[in-house]
Amino acid sequence: MTKSLNAIAQKLMSPGQGILAADESEGTIAKRFAKINLPNSLDLRRDYREMLFRSTEAMTKYISGVILTEETLEQSAADGTTFRAILADADCIPGIKVDRGAFPMPGDSGEKITEGLDGLRQRLVRYAELGAGFAKWRAVITINDVAPTRNNIRANAHALARYAILCQEAGIVPIVEPEVVGDGDPGNHSLERSAQVTGEVLENVFKELRLAGVDLSGMLLKPNMVLPGVNSRDRPGVEEVARRTVDVLKQHVPAAVPGIAFLSGGQTDEEATAHLSAMNQIAYKPWPLTFSYGRALQNVALRTWAGRRENFPAAQAAFTHRAHMNSLAALGEWSNEADRAAA
Ligand code: 13P
Repeated sequence: MTKSLNAIAQKLMSPGQGILAADESEGTIAKRFAKINLPNSLDLRRDYREMLFRSTEAMTKYISGVILTEETLEQSAADGTTFRAILADADCIPGIKVDRGAFPMPGDSGEKITEGLDGLRQRLVRYAELGAGFAKWRAVITINDVAPTRNNIRANAHALARYAILCQEAGIVPIVEPEVVGDGDPGNHSLERSAQVTGEVLENVFKELRLAGVDLSGMLLKPNMVLPGVNSRDRPGVEEVARRTVDVLKQHVPAAVPGIAFLSGGQTDEEATAHLSAMNQIAYKPWPLTFSYGRALQNVALRTWAGRRENFPAAQAAFTHRAHMNSLAALGEWSNEADRAAA
């Protein structure tokens, strides 16, 4: 089993490929649709995901795996072909978001704790039967005057470890996602603070993973990049973000981990691509680095689609362009000029 978990993880990290995070919960996709004045209907959600998954060039060349939801794992395109069959044709591994969301932590620190462990063992058996090769669980770490607290970091790290070992027991590769979110208050969330908190969180996560007996060679890490909060006055350049992020990861992520796939976390499309490419230009890293982006892969495609099937080709071209640029970034070969020229 260990060998096959590692084989799945390595396939997800194939050179020049990354993961499409299309696991927006109903609440999150409703927000994305509302921005373009679309209602959150089952048919529109299906059409939107169909548009992405049928982007044949992007899915075959640049995307190794897709994070689905319970809805999409069992859903079919308008013509009745299952999404799983469409992904299999493109040689993409289906994954599944298994957490039940982040909820307010008891107390008044303004933090969140991710729920979803109860019944997870049984759910994972079903997801494995449906062909899921990997899973995702997102923990949210908040920075403010009093946060993160040790209690919150430990609780989230513990839940991630419980989730990860259950996945491995079911033959599913866990993507472990501790996200230090960027909407902290001004002054609290500098680049320095982001580096310090990200390091502390990763330290605790790997401590809990080891305690739980998780095989580090059969998992992937999905971290935030080291970035200042959205309201911070810090404006680090691309190279500085890349260097600080790689430094923190090197200090806290064991070399046994087969790969690191970043979340985009509200960066602009180009920032997310530029940062990944710059990190891949840094020498001597023990793990490959790629993308597991949601918004930074989908923003333009979503707007171009605008709820209409006749816009599929244009939306698919936009998605393919972004996936291609992030593929170049995963190889450390992206440039602004190439991005503009290809667009
Ligand atoms: P973003 O890239 O939009 O941050 O989403 C990635 C993800 O899967 C968050 O859980």
